[in-house]
Amino acid sequence: MSDGYVLEMTNINKTFPGVKALDGAYLRVKEGEVVALCGENGAGKSTLMKILSGVYQADKGSGEIRYRGEQVHFSSPVEAKNAGIVLIFQELSLVQELSVAENIYLGSLPKKGFRVDWKKLNDDTKKVLEALECPAKPEDMVASLPIAQQQMVEIARGIALGARILVLDEPTSSLTEREKEALFRSIRNMKAQGVGIIYISHKMDEIFEISDRVMVMRDGRPTGDFATKEITLDDILFSMIGRSMDQYFYRYEGEPGAEVLRVEGLSLKGYFKNISFRVRAGEVVGFYGLVGAGRTEIMETIFGIRKADSGKVFLNGTEQHIRSSGDAVRAGIGFLTENRKEQGLVLGEGCRKNTYLAALPELTKRGFVQEKETHRIYDYYRDKLGIKSPSSEQEVGNLSGGNQQKVVVGKWMAIKPKLLILDEPTRGIDVNAKAEIYKLIASLAEEGIAIILISSEMPEIMGVSNRVITMAQGMLTGELSADEVTEERLMRNIMITDSTKSA
Ligand SMILES: Nc1ncnc2c1ncn2[C@@H]1O[C@H](COP(=O)(O)OP(=O)(O)OP(=O)(O)O)[C@@H](O)[C@H]1O
Ligand SMILES: [Mg+2]
Repeated sequence: MSDGYVLEMTNINKTFPGVKALDGAYLRVKEGEVVALCGENGAGKSTLMKILSGVYQADKGSGEIRYRGEQVHFSSPVEAKNAGIVLIFQELSLVQELSVAENIYLGSLPKKGFRVDWKKLNDDTKKVLEALECPAKPEDMVASLPIAQQQMVEIARGIALGARILVLDEPTSSLTEREKEALFRSIRNMKAQGVGIIYISHKMDEIFEISDRVMVMRDGRPTGDFATKEITLDDILFSMIGRSMDQYFYRYEGEPGAEVLRVEGLSLKGYFKNISFRVRAGEVVGFYGLVGAGRTEIMETIFGIRKADSGKVFLNGTEQHIRSSGDAVRAGIGFLTENRKEQGLVLGEGCRKNTYLAALPELTKRGFVQEKETHRIYDYYRDKLGIKSPSSEQEVGNLSGGNQQKVVVGKWMAIKPKLLILDEPTRGIDVNAKAEIYKLIASLAEEGIAIILISSEMPEIMGVSNRVITMAQGMLTGELSADEVTEERLMRNIMITDSTKSA
């Protein structure tokens, strides 16, 4: 092994139809080192990792991968995995119909003779889950778990496989703060055992917390390779986008207009209780709370995906009886959901089509879709959000994770709703595009749209909202104006529980 490098990838090229995804990319990892891989959406991070693991092959004549001192080539993820290279991708790859234990040991189930040794399977699984502080049980069906726990199960699988190189592609995007801390503890653990870790993230605070080295890519090329403790955030940003960033957060500070949404005493057993709040035109109201506090469920109820046990919802002063998402869109509500793959996008369709899908009723005249208008809309949001795609007709499923998210954002902005609910709109999105989205939110507010923003990123909630409503355990616990909001106050409000409330 040269200089302690357990993995060295050099001069990797990868061409997709119309896109040069990688152009002389390289990456080196030492034993026990955490290397953060950074770059804008579409920079080629996931593609490079897919080549490492044999999902894709590098272009002919390019590329060399040296692993544990030898030149290697993996023709499938199974081969890579058997060699000790384990990848955990952005999009989860668990088998929903199997149990947690079966997923973790899939392909290597412990046997007693010809039969699966269920006791050993469950015991082993329990140990891995405990090490990660994951509350799921070995026998739980994966489908019944919240996304955050499913992700922990994926990570548990990597650990159980005895990885020598562990690649985590945006692993914390749906984890709570506590789960993230648990994950970081296990990363440090694996580090101590000499595992090399490649950590892909758009969250700069995490990169500074966990990495030893930072590698930056832009347009498929390496643009930076730093020791983490010798650099600042600006160094990374500059390598990522090729210039410094001016403003990051945007907030529309105009006087809000008339009330758009009024929610009165909304309750749904097991999720939330007696929820009342208002949102006015031109106002951005942030909802902050721990994952599981009930924020998403409230929004799903307003949007007609869930049915409340009691309570009322008013739009522009008129009581609504929304029974489906179709009703909601007709009433002028847009809802960007947390889970883009399940509810936001048609992966097999093109970018342009996905962008105009929700706005289809307004774009259809006498039964015909106004094609020209759909191009105008797509082009507008492509430029605004910096969507990177070889063409407007490229299947959304082939875009990078962050670019898929940008398409969803464009789709909901395009319906020009009265009320726009954004649930974690910047998940997986690079810093530059985040700033663009904040700017767009501010300009939508300026146009008089009422906006609800759910986010688990505290700086984002604080930087963008005119007012922040806090929640804990299905109940509203407070409200803070932009002037009043501080990190301490937010933290205090989301920790309020039944037992602390009376105190
Ligand atoms: N299967 C594919 N077919 C066509 N193009 C692809 C395919 N996979 C990736 N690409 C393109 O390759 C480029 C790099 O994508 P990649 O997913 O590696 O980006 P990324 O750096 O992981 O971005 P993100 O931060 O958004 O996840 C993008 O332009 C993407 O559209
Ligand atoms: Mg990616």
